Amino acid sequence: MIFNRIFSGSYDFFMSFLEKKELKARRARLISGLTGKILEVGVGTGVNFEHYNHNTNVTGIEPSPYMLVHADKKRDLLLFPDRITLHNTGCGTPEMQKLIEPESLDAVVCTLVLCTIPEPQLAIKNFMKWLKPGGQLILLEHIRSHNKRKAKFQDKINPLWEKIADGCQLNRATDRMLTSSGFELLREDHFRLGIPFYEAEYIKPINR
Ligand SMILES: C[S@@+](CC[C@H](N)C(=O)[O-])C[C@H]1O[C@@H](n2cnc3c(N)ncnc32)[C@H](O)[C@@H]1O
Repeated sequence: MIFNRIFSGSYDFFMSFLEKKELKARRARLISGLTGKILEVGVGTGVNFEHYNHNTNVTGIEPSPYMLVHADKKRDLLLFPDRITLHNTGCGTPEMQKLIEPESLDAVVCTLVLCTIPEPQLAIKNFMKWLKPGGQLILLEHIRSHNKRKAKFQDKINPLWEKIADGCQLNRATDRMLTSSGFELLREDHFRLGIPFYEAEYIKPINR
């Protein structure tokens, strides 16, 4: 518990170098054009909030109450804070089925979160259920290396990493999970920031 508090309190500081170098610009590009009803999964400290435009109605979920304290503060600093509603829950809880109606969402936003969610494949299945046909799935995630030697190294250090990083799995092949998910790929970009990262936009096929 004390560790969760330390992780949430130091998250923005530890991420600040990567954010300035690359991630902030990518977040802005992915999020600023979204409109309509949006689910943001695992909002953390609320780093994405500043990028949503005023034509959005965002439901943010976050299971860590320590993270939520920071997210709440960031939301209150926005010009239109009411467009973001926060819930202390996570993917995989029964509450989610009550919170989100099938085919009700225009977009689902996942940034640095599918690495941590306990059942990512089930979560992706639910995103498909909750999105309207043509709705967008937005991803910015670190992933398992495509290089066998580097992936093995990720496997080796993962037990320590997940302890330090509050359950985050360094070696999760999120990009590969999406290829068999039924989502249609619009655009993807593999890049490195010390470790391999993946930025992508998918849509739920219209005829699904
Ligand atoms: C590395 S942080 C990323 C936070 C933020 N999305 C970002 O881009 O900086 C991962 C977040 O996922 C949250 N999380 C863990 N399990 C989750 C679940 N089942 N559903 C939703 N979020 C979850 C954690 O509490 C944590 O805030």
